[in-house]
Amino acid sequence: MPLPGVPNLEFQLPGPDNHCGMKKLFVKTYGCQMNAYDSAKMADLLAPLGYAATYAPEGADMVILNTCHIRERAAEKVYSELGRLKQLKAAKAKDGGRMVLAVAGCVAQAEGAEIVARAPQVDLVVGPQSYHRLPEMIARAARQNGHVLETDFPALEKFDTLAPPQASKVSAFLTVQEGCDKFCTFCVVPYTRGSEYSRPPEAILIEARQLADKGAREIVLLGQNVNAYAADGWSLAKLCKAIAEIKDIERIRYTTSHPRDMGDDLIAAHGENEKLMPYLHLPVQSGADAVLEAMNRQHKADDYRRLVDRIRVARGDIALTSDFIVGFPGESDADFEATLSLVRDIGYATAFSFKYSKRPGTPASTMRKQIPEEVKAARLEALQKLLLSQQYSFDDSQIGKVLPVLFEKTAREPGQLMGRSQYLQPVHVNTDAAWIGGVVDVRIERRTANSLHGVLA
Ligand code: 5AD
Ligand code: SF4
Repeated sequence: MPLPGVPNLEFQLPGPDNHCGMKKLFVKTYGCQMNAYDSAKMADLLAPLGYAATYAPEGADMVILNTCHIRERAAEKVYSELGRLKQLKAAKAKDGGRMVLAVAGCVAQAEGAEIVARAPQVDLVVGPQSYHRLPEMIARAARQNGHVLETDFPALEKFDTLAPPQASKVSAFLTVQEGCDKFCTFCVVPYTRGSEYSRPPEAILIEARQLADKGAREIVLLGQNVNAYAADGWSLAKLCKAIAEIKDIERIRYTTSHPRDMGDDLIAAHGENEKLMPYLHLPVQSGADAVLEAMNRQHKADDYRRLVDRIRVARGDIALTSDFIVGFPGESDADFEATLSLVRDIGYATAFSFKYSKRPGTPASTMRKQIPEEVKAARLEALQKLLLSQQYSFDDSQIGKVLPVLFEKTAREPGQLMGRSQYLQPVHVNTDAAWIGGVVDVRIERRTANSLHGVLA
């Protein structure tokens, strides 16, 4: 499952802007949490080479675009960004410097050599499974002054050679599984991230302890199919149990899960492991069996309903979220109604919904009975209206309650902190920055569009 959470979000790695003797590295991240994790790892990897993160591409010695391929026209957006960077690179050359320009991530994987053909200003093209080779690629690019491409799939090797984390946020991402063998007919992930691979548990536990030492209080285990995690006889539930034994880690989450891989032990863990948060992103995509079949999801709508019932038996208050695609080829009005009816049956805390859009090379892109744009737009609007009303009623149901909030950082408004409830809702509180990194009881007083607000209880 592509990772959820931040569609279309672009963000930069923060970094101090004092670079006495350091080379400046600017990483622009597109897309999902796994890309954010990969960007942090690339920065860790380049630190020993003298690169320090900077906030802007102007004057940078190295610029990495860590790209995402899940949205429409993703490649085109990258090419237009590369057009802007070409000018900055030329300006740097005029001053006698050199800007190394790298394209990483899933667009790099999908486009490969096409990138340097269309944008010769690019020095390096590096796929998501090859970025551990960046230091060597930079050296090669410096020597040969030409283009260097790495888009193999040596995932196993990548994780073995990654540097330990240099720093950590309060809530830290940790990739435990990568790739996907499910081949949903709309999705590019099996082609860009490769087949399923689970990291060995020992390596994950070492990284979790390192993150805790650097200040992490929450670990978010990442994988395109994270609940398919299986290595050396370990399941995701067993991994969560072992991570829960790290004293400084207060909270554990994982994303993204496939309904078919929701094992009994993982369901049970939600009732047993106190550090495992009552929140689950479990994409269903559609509520109509015919559409689920055409999507190759390998489950029916009622299988999903029964699964949710079982999860709620284990943990009654679990907050459920999902991804939906409307206007998949062949989706009838009745199929779409079935999706609305599934949403009403489940009751989501929040959800992401998208209009189907063609991805070149995927089976659905050549299916007949593509749905007209205006039908997709109308369905998306109706679905989002329903999902938003569910989100508001879930958020409103917290008003007056006392929730444990893990404070992550200062908020935009002075004197205010931002944290998250156990259900992942952002919570804003006026209080002392000393609480950052702590789990504190907060009485919820009101809700705004995307956040709860409260006072220390
Ligand atoms: N069209 C629309 N939405 C898509 N997603 C993935 N591929 C497509 C596509 N071709 C959505 C799915 C997935 C989420 C991250 O992005 O809902 O779960
Ligand atoms: Fe998720 Fe299906 Fe894509 Fe795999 S193919 S990442 S299961 S949506």
